[in-house]
Parts: sequence; structure tokens; C-alpha cells
Amino acid sequence: MEFKELVKKRRTIRRFKQDSISIDTLKSLIEYARLAPSAANVQSLRYIIVKDSDVCQKIFPLVRWAANLPESERAPESERRPTAYVIVLNDTEIKKGAKYDIGAAVQNILLGATDEGLGACWMGSIERDKLRIEFSIPEKYEITHVISLGYPDEKSKIEPFKGSYKYWKDENGLMHVPKISVEELIFKIE
Ligand SMILES: Cc1cc2nc3c(=O)[nH]c(=O)nc-3n(C[C@H](O)[C@H](O)[C@H](O)COP(=O)(O)O)c2cc1C
Repeated sequence: MEFKELVKKRRTIRRFKQDSISIDTLKSLIEYARLAPSAANVQSLRYIIVKDSDVCQKIFPLVRWAANLPESERAPESERRPTAYVIVLNDTEIKKGAKYDIGAAVQNILLGATDEGLGACWMGSIERDKLRIEFSIPEKYEITHVISLGYPDEKSKIEPFKGSYKYWKDENGLMHVPKISVEELIFKIE
């Protein structure tokens, strides 16, 4: 896919078909993350791949969906839940924080997922303490985010920003995501 098309096509997806994702495809997402920039090249991020359906069911209550939508429309219905997850960890013994590395790696995963025909949702609103217990994650790893994955079963489009950043869903289930224009984003050209 052309880069321009890929960047436009990548939208947050929160509803998924139930076809399973192959382990090779999931590993390719970690390959994209591996190639991302890393400050001083310390590469402190590690990843848990979850593809087992029983384990996916255990993660589902530990993530929060689409805060801008009315409560009843936020989480995917039981037959449209993610079929895989990537849990992003930062090894704090290598580096504390690493927020820029995290952003770069996760964006590579999201773009890579789009290129693989997947939908994805980057999730920061997660129950870290429960995830730590569920996956026996040692304290030295900070649990940064969860990325929910699956073959997309919803559509999302960008629209011009008109004063509200809130994304919304229309009666056909199409997500509308307001994005600020290039003109408004450019602070100055000299
Ligand atoms: C750091 C970060 C954390 C996010 N956390 C969540 C989350 O917990 N739950 C959720 O449903 N979406 C989450 N999102 C997705 C955003 O809501 C989404 O990116 C935004 O609405 C813009 O839509 P777009 O990704 O299609 O451009 C998160 C995005 C980022 C960058």
C-alpha cells in the first residue's frame, strides 16, 4: 500500500470479524515495532502477544472503549470483540519512561496492522494491576498500553474539525473522527 493511502486508511477500529489472525501476521507486527526509532537505541520495549480466545476473553474486561460515545455504544458486542491483543511493556531496568519510543513503536504496529488488512485500537485506558496479575508480569516491566486487534468489522472516516474533538457514530455505525486542518495545525511558516 502507498504510504499516503496507508496513513489515511489507518483508523481506530473497535469492532472485529471473528477470523483468527495467524501467528506469523502477529509476529510481523512486532517486526514493525522492532524497526521503530528508539532514543539512544536502547530498545527497552517488550511485547506480549495474545491470540488464545480464552485469554482474549480475560483481557476484554480490563480495557475501556471509546469514551466519547454514549456508554451503551462503547464496547464491541460479544460477537465483535478483538481476536488478538498486543500488550506493550517497557523494561524500566533498561530505561524509565520511554514514552517517545512507545509512540513510535505503537504507530508502526498500527500502520503495519492496517497494511496486513487488520483493524487496531491503541488503548491506554486499561487495568494495569489486573493485567500484571493475569500475565504474571514482573514489576520491572511497566505496562504501557494494550493494542486490540482483529479483522475490521466497522468503518471509520475522518471529517473536518468544527470545534469539537469528539468522534461520533452515525445511525449506520460509521465512525466520524474530526481532524484539525493542516492550515490550523501550522503555527507558523517563516
Ligand atoms: C495514547 C492513546 C491511548 C488511547 N486509548 C484508548 C482507549 O483506552 N480506548 C479507546 O477506545 N481508544 C483509545 N485510543 C484511540 C483514540 O480514541 C483514537 O486514536 C482517536 O479517537 C482518533 O481516531 P483515529 O485513531 O481513527 O485517528 C487511544 C489513542 C492513543 C493515541
